[in-house]
Amino acid sequence: MAPRFQAPRGTHDILPDEIGAWRRIESATREVFERYGFREIRTPIFESTELFTRSVGTSTDIVRKEMYTLSAGGESMTLRPEATAPVVRAFVEHALYRTIAEGYPERFYYLGPMFRYERPQKGRQRQFHQLGVEVLGAPEPLADAETIEMVWSLLTSLGIEDRELRLNSIGDDDTRGRYRAALTQWLAPNLPLLCEDCRRRAEDNPLRVFDCKVEADRRLLAKAPSVLDHLSDAAAEHFAAVRSALDGYGVPYVVDPRLVRGLDYYRRTVFEVVSTGLGAQNAILGGGRYDGLVEELGGPAVPGFGFAAGMERLASLASRAGSGAPATDLLLVALGPAGFGAGIGLARRLRARGLSVATSLALRPLSAQLKRAERLRARFALFVGEGELARGRFGLKDLATGEQIDVDEDGIADAVRKA
Ligand code: HAM
Repeated sequence: MAPRFQAPRGTHDILPDEIGAWRRIESATREVFERYGFREIRTPIFESTELFTRSVGTSTDIVRKEMYTLSAGGESMTLRPEATAPVVRAFVEHALYRTIAEGYPERFYYLGPMFRYERPQKGRQRQFHQLGVEVLGAPEPLADAETIEMVWSLLTSLGIEDRELRLNSIGDDDTRGRYRAALTQWLAPNLPLLCEDCRRRAEDNPLRVFDCKVEADRRLLAKAPSVLDHLSDAAAEHFAAVRSALDGYGVPYVVDPRLVRGLDYYRRTVFEVVSTGLGAQNAILGGGRYDGLVEELGGPAVPGFGFAAGMERLASLASRAGSGAPATDLLLVALGPAGFGAGIGLARRLRARGLSVATSLALRPLSAQLKRAERLRARFALFVGEGELARGRFGLKDLATGEQIDVDEDGIADAVRKA
C-alpha cells in the first residue's frame, strides 16, 4: 500500500544510512575551503524576488519558470534558487567591501538547500543542496585559477577522479555586443531548424540558445560562431592568464566555446566540471566570474568569482568511491535480566567517556541483539551478564575482525578508541 503522505515530488529524505557520505563531503569542504582562507556565511532561505530577477536574469530558465515564489504580507518572496545573489546582497548590505584591500579579497563559502521548480529526474531535484564559494574584490586571473584549483583538489580528496573541467570565456559587455550580433546573424537562417524554445531565446537573449538540451539542436549549434573569436583584448588576456595559471597548477581542462552557463551575471571566465558517472545531469559544479553584479545590486564596483556544486551529485559519486555511514561504537548485549539492569548504568558511564553506545530498552533474545548490532554497523559488541558483572570484566567483540577480548571498564574505552 502506498503511504498516505510522501515527500513532495522532486524532494527527498536523506536517511541515516546515507548521512555518512554527506558528512564526509561537508567536513572535507569546510577543511579544504578554510585552508584557502574562505569563511562560512549563512543567508536566509528566501529573499525578495527582485534580487533574483535582477541578478540571474529575466531571460534565464530559472527566472522564467523555476522560481518558488510566494507572496506574504503583500511582498513577493522567492525560495533561493542559488546563493550568489544572496551572498552579494549580504556583502553590500553589511558593507563588507570596506575591509577589502588590493590582493586580499573577501572569500565566502556556504552549504545549504536551494529550490528550483524543474522536471525531476535522476540527479535533478526541486529541492537540492549546494556547496559553493564567492570571492569578492579580486580582479586578478589568479583568483579564478586558484579557486578552480581548490575545488579540483576537493574532488580529489573525495576520491572523485572521473571528471572533466570545461572552461570558456564569454568576455565583457562589449564582447557580448559584438558576439550577439554575429550569433544573431548566424541564427537567422537556422531558426526554422531549431526548437521553439531556441526561437524564443534567439529573440530574448541569443546566448541562451546554448542552454538548449535538444540533441539535434546542440549538434547544429556546435557550428555557430565561437565567442572566443570575439573577445576584447582585455578579456582575451585575462583568459590566457587563467589558462596559464591552471597549467602551472597542473589542473587539466578542455576549452569549450559553447559553454555559456544558464545565469546572466557571468562575464569573462565560465567553467563547469562534469562527470561521466552521472548520466544526463552530468554537471557536478559550475561557476565563473561576475564582475558588475555587485554594482547591479547596489554596491560599489567590486568584481566577483565563484562556483557551486550539487551535493546530491557529489554524494552519489563519493559514495561510489567508497564511504561508510558513521558507525555506533558499540552495542551493549545484555545476557539476562542482571546484565540488562546493570548495562543501563554501564552504558551511561561509557557515553560520558565519549563513546557512542546503543542499548535495547527491553531484554531481547541474544540473536535479536546481535542482528541489531549488524544493522547499526556497530564496531563492537559488549557482553554484560551476571558472571561478567561479578568479575568486573566483560567480553568485547570486534565485529569487523571477529576477535574477542576480555577487558574491564577502562579497557573498553581504550580498545574502542584504539580502533
Ligand atoms: P548552477 O550551475 O546553476 O550555478 O548550479 C551549480 C550546481 O548545482 C550544478 O552544477 C549542479 O551540480 C547543481 N544543481 C543545479 N540545479 C540542480 C537541481 N535541480 N538538482 C540537483 N542539482 C542541481 C549556480 O547556482 C551559481 N550560483 C554558481 C556560482 C557561484 N557562480 C558563481 N558563484
